[in-house]
Parts: sequence; structure tokens; C-alpha cells
Amino acid sequence: MDKISFSDIGEHVVDEIIDTVETPIALLGGDGVILRFNRACEMLTGFSQSEALGRKVWDFLIIEEEIEAVRQVFAMTCAKDLPTHYTNYWKTKSGKRRLLSWSNKTLRDDSGAVAAVLATALDITELRSAESDLTESQAFLRSIVDASPVAVVTINDRAQILSFSRQAETTFGYRETHVLGKNVKILMPEPDRARHDDYIDRFLETGEKRIIGRARRVKAMRSTGEVFPALLHVTEFTDGERVFVGFVEDLSEKEETERRLSDTQFQLQHAGRVGAMGEIATSIAHELNQPLTAAASLAGAVSLTLKKAQCDRCDDAIILLDDVVSEIKRASEIIHQMREFVRKRKTTKSLHDVNKIVEDAAALAIIGADADGVEVKWDLSEDVGKVSLDRIQIQQVVTNLIRNAIDAMHEAPQRILTISTRKRAREIEVSIADTGPGLNKDLKKTLFEPFVSSKKEGIGVGLSISKTIIDAHQGEIDAADLESGGCVFTFNLPAGNDESVGDNP
Ligand SMILES: Nc1ncnc2c1ncn2[C@@H]1O[C@H](COP(=O)(O)OP(=O)(O)OP(=O)(O)O)[C@@H](O)[C@H]1O
Ligand SMILES: [Mg+2]
Repeated sequence: MDKISFSDIGEHVVDEIIDTVETPIALLGGDGVILRFNRACEMLTGFSQSEALGRKVWDFLIIEEEIEAVRQVFAMTCAKDLPTHYTNYWKTKSGKRRLLSWSNKTLRDDSGAVAAVLATALDITELRSAESDLTESQAFLRSIVDASPVAVVTINDRAQILSFSRQAETTFGYRETHVLGKNVKILMPEPDRARHDDYIDRFLETGEKRIIGRARRVKAMRSTGEVFPALLHVTEFTDGERVFVGFVEDLSEKEETERRLSDTQFQLQHAGRVGAMGEIATSIAHELNQPLTAAASLAGAVSLTLKKAQCDRCDDAIILLDDVVSEIKRASEIIHQMREFVRKRKTTKSLHDVNKIVEDAAALAIIGADADGVEVKWDLSEDVGKVSLDRIQIQQVVTNLIRNAIDAMHEAPQRILTISTRKRAREIEVSIADTGPGLNKDLKKTLFEPFVSSKKEGIGVGLSISKTIIDAHQGEIDAADLESGGCVFTFNLPAGNDESVGDNP
């Protein structure tokens, strides 16, 4: 087919084409005056061709801050014949901004003078805003990942680290810039370090999911070489390439706390048993002493009577009775020694942070009790500081008081346990308040004596052990009803900081 030239179909066809295309096209004179303004330009700006023709483009279409730059580009376009590409804003009749990517070409007349500049544009407003939305949403995602208390590490299917969250930097001790692109196995100790590439290869070959989708306890390694326990959760997604996201929770502190709590729990239980035994022994000694002394005197009196009577076979009875007296004395002596032994229980003092001791003991008391529905309010004063005390014994006191408070609130409609510490002039004070029924009137005066209990299964030694311990610390313990209902048990300890080893009184 023969080629059709524009002259065959008329000049107006060119006009038609220019007005039909959706590309904004403008023809500018060498001084920037608009000579043509196609329909797409009209649609884009809201200005009609008749409004635009004859005006310089920078007099009404270019935004203030870009006028100078646009004029320079325009001058450059006129000076050289090379097409120029440039991106700038046009403002519309209604005041909106459109971002346009321009391709400019200089047209010259036969004498070589600039006849016009042909400018065609691509409207990239939406494209740029989509790009910036994407950048914003990536930044948003990153800020969520960085706020996560768990370390987040992403890798590709060659195990190269793609991102390393802020918590990952803290947990592992590497800066993100140092680990990007490195093999993730640097975060693992042996033997996983040597095997990790095989794990990934096997997963990619077989799709066998050993770790993906379930949390697993693993050993991880910090930049210092320290190996620590961690909980690892891996998920997988595809973002052009396959990406694995690892969430790593550092368990070392948690395990250390658990270990410390369980050690303390064991020591407390042990001390509790020893304390209860001591208290029981003291009481038994006290109770038995009197009847034993009476029995010894009675047997002595019978022996004396028999000696006076001087009857036949009395001598045998007298010998037997003397044996009875000496056996009773031996029993008294054993009981006396037992009491002495209990009294001599050592109180080993050293400096301890009172708030920490109270917190640890409370954690144990609450774990060990049926404390469902009990709300715990803390009111620990910062200035309490360290005090010289026997940690196990004081924790035993706090545990006893909290257990009692929880027991007392069993049936209460409101169950609030308030644990407070205060610094007074020369002592520190710890109090445990509850919202139970308050103190039993009949027991009020004897609360701190052994075997006083209003509970079906209580032995009634908790408070008497507590008093013995607080006495040994030269402190005081007391209880009071609260006006609001419930009661408060308070003990204090001298605020001095001498470290000494003392005996129970
Ligand atoms: N917070 C409290 N509110 C009301 N009464 C209390 C409270 N704490 C203690 N009591 C009373 O004091 C009694 C003695 O308490 P104590 O701790 O010595 O023994 P217990 O708790 O009965 O038994 P256990 O030997 O198992 O501790 C309790 O039985 C209870 O009647
Ligand atoms: Mg008790």
C-alpha cells in the first residue's frame, strides 16, 4: 500500500491527531508564549485554548518555586537541538497541582532560528503518589517491626539477612548495616551454624516444614559469642523472591527469673518447715514441762513416803521409783535441749533491696495460693533501699502475711491486696492490707501466739513464726483493722545497714 502523506489528507488531520491524543501537547514560541494548547492540555489544566494562547507558560501555569528552574531548562532547550526531559508541576485553573514529565524538542525554521518548542507531557501525579504511598507503608511496616519487643529478622532463600529489627540489634548486639546480606547462621551457635544451609536446602527441595509455622526453643548466639536460649517462630511469604521471617524471643532473663523464683520457693518451703517444727517443738516443750516436773515431784514424794514406811519389799519399789524420777528428768532435759536448739536458729543477715525481696516473696505467695480474682496493688516506695536482713526469713514473713490475706478474702465480694513499703525516720515499714472480714474479735489478742487459728486446716503457726523472725531482726509486727473493711499487717525493720550474724533471742 502506498504511504499516505499529511498533505494528501489535509493539514487539519494533524490538528485532529494533536487534539485526539490523551497526551498533553503544547507548542511554545522561543519566548515561552503558548502557540498551541491541545485538548489534553485543556482537560488537564481547566484552561481553554483561547484562555491559554498568547500567554507565557510561566506566567500562569508554573508554580512559583519552579519558575526559575523551568525558564533555565527552556533556555537550554532553545539553545541546543537535543531533546530535553524534565519533570515539574503545572497548576490548574482550580489551583491543584499536577506533576508532569516533559519531553521537549526545538523546531527551527529554514534560517535556523527557533520557530517553536514542542512539549509533550506524561501526567505522573498518581504514579508518584502511589510510589510515595508504598514508601510510606513500607516505613509504617518497618516502624511496627521496630516497635516489636521480639527480634525480627528476615532472610531470603539463600539465608542472607534482608532486614534486622531494632530489637534484633539489641538482642544479638549487631548493627543492621553490619549483618545485611550476611548468612543468618552467624546468629547461631554450633551445631546449628554448620547445619543451617542444609536445613534450608532440604526445605527448598522437599518443602518439608521442620520449623515453619511452629514456635521452637533454640539456642542463639550474640555478637559477643554468648549463647542464650530463645523461642523462634518462622513464617514464610513471597515478595518477588521467597522471604522467611524469624521472630526471636530472648528467654534468658525469663529463665533466670524462673530459676531464681524456684530456688527461693524451695528455700522458703524448707525454712517454713523448719520454722513450723521449731514453733511446735517450743510449744510442746512448754506444755510438757509442767506435767513432767509434776510427775517427777510426785514420784519423789512417793519414794520418800515409802522410805519412811520401812515396809518389806519397799526397797525394791524405792529403787524403781528413783529410776522413774531420773527417766522423767532425762525427758525434761531432752525437751529443754530441743527448745534450746530451736531457739539457737541462726539469723544470717546481709544487705538486701527490700522492694525486690517483697516482690519476689509476693510472686511466690500468689503463685502458691488460690489467688484467682485477687487484684494486687503495689505501692513500693523508691527510697526504701537496702536493709540488713535475713532474706529467706523476711521473705517467709511476707509470704505468710500474703497467704493469710488471700485466705481472708476467700469469700469477700471485693478482693484487693495492697502491698506497700515505706521509709520512716529510722526504720523501713512493709505492710500487707486486704479487703477481707477483718480480725476475729476472740483471736485479736493472741494472733501472734502459736496454734491460734480460725481455719479448718490452719496449724496457726504462720504469725508466731513471723513474730519470732521480726523479733530476731529487732523489728516489730502488728495488725490492725481497717475502717474501710479488711485489715492490715505491718512490720518494720531498723533502717541501719550493719551486716551482722546474730542468734534468735
Ligand atoms: N489478713 C487476715 N485477716 C483476718 N484474719 C487473719 C488475717 N491474717 C491472720 N488472721 C487470723 O490469724 C490467725 C492466725 O494466723 P496464722 O498465719 O498464724 O495461722 P493460720 O493462717 O491459721 O495457719 P498457718 O499455720 O497455716 O499459717 C488466722 O487463722 C486468722 O484467724
Ligand atoms: Mg497463716
